[in-house]
Amino acid sequence: LPALSYQDDALQMESVSIKALAQTYGTPCYVYSKQAILDVYNAYSTAFSTIEHQICYAVKANSNLAVLSVLAKAGAGFDIVSRGELMRVLAAGGQASRVVFSGVGKTPADIEYALSQGIGCFNVESISELSIINEVAQTLDKKAPISLRVNPDVDANTHPYISTGLKDNKFGIAHDKAIAVYEGAAQMSHIDILGIDCHIGSQLTQVEPFVAALDKLIELIEQLRDKGIMLKHIDLGGGLGVRYIDEQPVSIKDFADALLPKLQKLGLSVFFEPGRSMVANAGILITEVNILKPTEHKNFAIVDAAMNDLIRPALYQAEMGVIPSTLPANGMDTEGTQAWDIVGAICETGDFLAKNRVLSLQVGDLLAVTGAGAYGFNMSSNYNTRPRTAEVMVSGEQHQLIKPRETIEALYSDERLWQG
Ligand code: LLP
Repeated sequence: LPALSYQDDALQMESVSIKALAQTYGTPCYVYSKQAILDVYNAYSTAFSTIEHQICYAVKANSNLAVLSVLAKAGAGFDIVSRGELMRVLAAGGQASRVVFSGVGKTPADIEYALSQGIGCFNVESISELSIINEVAQTLDKKAPISLRVNPDVDANTHPYISTGLKDNKFGIAHDKAIAVYEGAAQMSHIDILGIDCHIGSQLTQVEPFVAALDKLIELIEQLRDKGIMLKHIDLGGGLGVRYIDEQPVSIKDFADALLPKLQKLGLSVFFEPGRSMVANAGILITEVNILKPTEHKNFAIVDAAMNDLIRPALYQAEMGVIPSTLPANGMDTEGTQAWDIVGAICETGDFLAKNRVLSLQVGDLLAVTGAGAYGFNMSSNYNTRPRTAEVMVSGEQHQLIKPRETIEALYSDERLWQG
């Protein structure tokens, strides 16, 4: 893992020890490496440096302003799915003109806000959305920049909940309807057709589905050219997978090398919307072991983080790494090492962070759940009236609080007693 290493048996992120972070900020706590985020961003820019490109970080993966500001300074664009995400991008110093707006359910208010801020492009997912955008643009006396999200009907070979490019997913416009919708869009007075877009799923480890989707889009781009509809960009979405345990995702360089020959020939500017690959392995969730409960069948380690803090294992059966903050003195097979289920304190059987992990554990030990930088904090909730964790960013020897832990009082301070 890029930013993590053991220094004299003590885990550190960049140059800061996990123990020091836990002492300073308490646990559970999300920590992100600034350098690890920048390294991935730079890997994308370098891999596509031979063509005009824009890396639009998918804000949903981790929308903390510190993360967004680091990427905005590096030159990234953003992929957003709500007015709120656009407000965050602007608050973090991002430029609206470098933002693409995805999502199946944009409301007139979302569209109006985005247009008035000068959004770069709407990725449109239906005819009905297209008409609404046209109408809102008319009332603002603006032309709305759009691209159509086409559903290329390719199998991304990933978990069904995060696969999006199949015919029976709710996303995008069917491949065989796309030309007709473009022709309709070309007739609309307040629509400016800029591009074509797709996003076929998340945590893809192979490059073939991306190439298949690109081929389907190229077919459409050529048919549109023949009809006099000229596009400026192609957006291939996000979806590149990461290594959580033993996955072997294609590298960013190999991903680029597989796509570049076709993209170069096409001559359009290319956009990507990476979320997970940009931040997953830049982040960890630090948690403390509170209770050890060995039973006849299973050993449970009850930690202070739970499914409300990190829902991926419960929701997708996702496997994430769990590593100790201090390596056992004699390596991993010292006495006392056994298989543990790492679980939270919430009253649900689905409340686990990992199962069957061979670790040598004692009460008070600190663990780091790895790969937690993407879809971690952003999917957390207050279930069981648990305050959401603090978030911290590390850079070299420096560390900063980028979001304080919620207080319990704040969780209900705006609720009202029934008056009667
Ligand atoms: N663009 C669009 C239109 C998307 O819907 C998504 C993710 C992305 C880009 C970014 O995809 P990425 O590069 O992160 O794979 N919560 C799930 C993942 C949901 C992904 C939803 N869409 C998880 O924790 O695995």
